[in-house]
Amino acid sequence: MRIIYPHFVGVFSALWGLATGAFPSSVQIGGLFIRNTDQEYTAFRLAIFLHNTSPNATEAPFNLVPHVDNIETANSFAVTNAFCSQYSRGVFAIFGLYDKRSVHTLTSFCSALHISLVTPSFPTEGEGQFTLQLRPSIRGALLSLLDHYDWSRFVFLYDTDRGYAILQAIMERAGQNGWQVSAICVESFNEAAYRRLLEDLDRRQERKYVIDLEPERLQSILEQAVSVGKHVKGYHYILANLGFKDISLERFMHGGANITGFQLVDFSKPIVLKLMQRWNKLDQREYPGSDIPPKYTSSLTYDGVLVMAEAFRNLRRQKIDISRRGNAGDCLANPAAPWNQGIDMERTLKQVRIQGLTGNIQFDHYGRRVNYTMDMFELKTVPGHSEGGESRGL
Ligand SMILES: *[C@@H]1O[C@H](CO)[C@@H](O)[C@H](O)[C@H]1NC(C)=O
Ligand SMILES: *[C@@H]1O[C@H](CO)[C@@H](O)[C@H](O)[C@H]1NC(C)=O
Ligand SMILES: *[C@@H]1O[C@H](CO)[C@@H](O)[C@H](O)[C@H]1NC(C)=O
Repeated sequence: MRIIYPHFVGVFSALWGLATGAFPSSVQIGGLFIRNTDQEYTAFRLAIFLHNTSPNATEAPFNLVPHVDNIETANSFAVTNAFCSQYSRGVFAIFGLYDKRSVHTLTSFCSALHISLVTPSFPTEGEGQFTLQLRPSIRGALLSLLDHYDWSRFVFLYDTDRGYAILQAIMERAGQNGWQVSAICVESFNEAAYRRLLEDLDRRQERKYVIDLEPERLQSILEQAVSVGKHVKGYHYILANLGFKDISLERFMHGGANITGFQLVDFSKPIVLKLMQRWNKLDQREYPGSDIPPKYTSSLTYDGVLVMAEAFRNLRRQKIDISRRGNAGDCLANPAAPWNQGIDMERTLKQVRIQGLTGNIQFDHYGRRVNYTMDMFELKTVPGHSEGGESRGL
């Protein structure tokens, strides 16, 4: 299958609902992608393509028109430029990925100008008005797992890419329960440093680990664990990550160490199976990253488009005619001129309740996911066998 989708669509004067005051037949949204998010971008494009070609007029009474910026270095200057260019094009909401260097700039602009940001990136700290967090918190599930295993002494490896929320929760619980936790930040570590650390901890009889790292770093530390022989019976690693199936654990399967992790996307659900049929037919030259199954962040991205589409459907149903007319100017104007209907947009986004690839999607007042489910997986010592359990976070 070959799907051609232009990055920048159309003449934008034609895209307004204008004179009639009707709900726009083309709804403009922003898309901000940072480096190493090719597959997420593929999921975004596919979701929009499927929406726009839906034969069901109830489902898609309007087209989604994305304005996309792919930012190579997500510094605040590049993010400001991208945000401002989307703002001036009159987008109604922005789908965006950020890293820790750009999160503050992006969320500040959104709050100041009342433009909602729908994001699969890590949770922002603080108020989070105008930010919808697609990524559910792993905190509750992780703490119940630690209770379940009754660990009283373990190593916690982390970086600060996603803030300190999990570290804080662990240290708090350690204080209450008298756990001995060695918390080590491995942010600046290279492969040799990982190996030295693992050897060193081993000499101190540390065999239990909680690893709170994003897939790239996680994969790298697990490879080093294999190379220094710490993937054998007697070791137990808990991966504080929502994409257990995204991580390659083949060598561990033969080693015998216990590994436990969490999986947000249930690949046996009909909605996921249906999407996978489309996904598997994508041409990977056109759709980078489609040669492997969608990672959980790509599934969250896909769901982000579903959330936005549902919010626009609800606004349309409530006969709220959104318009950015007279408010698509200078994003750096002083004082800031927030979008009048930004509050309506935000409220409607937070009220969305749909089923997506990541299960039940529902938000609280702060734009955080509530009422979600994730599976827990244990890689058992029997080679090639893994067993699923369930863990529910509310
Ligand atoms: C069309 O979409 C709506 C909203 O998602 C859904 O309720 C309805 O069942 C769909 N109709 C058909 C024929 O698929
Ligand atoms: C690994 O799992 C097995 C079976 O659940 C358990 O008996 C064993 O104690 C675990 N090992 C560690 C180091 O946690
Ligand atoms: C939680 O989600 C389920 C669907 O997965 C829904 O049936 C239920 O009503 C939701 N509960 C609350 C409290 O909203």
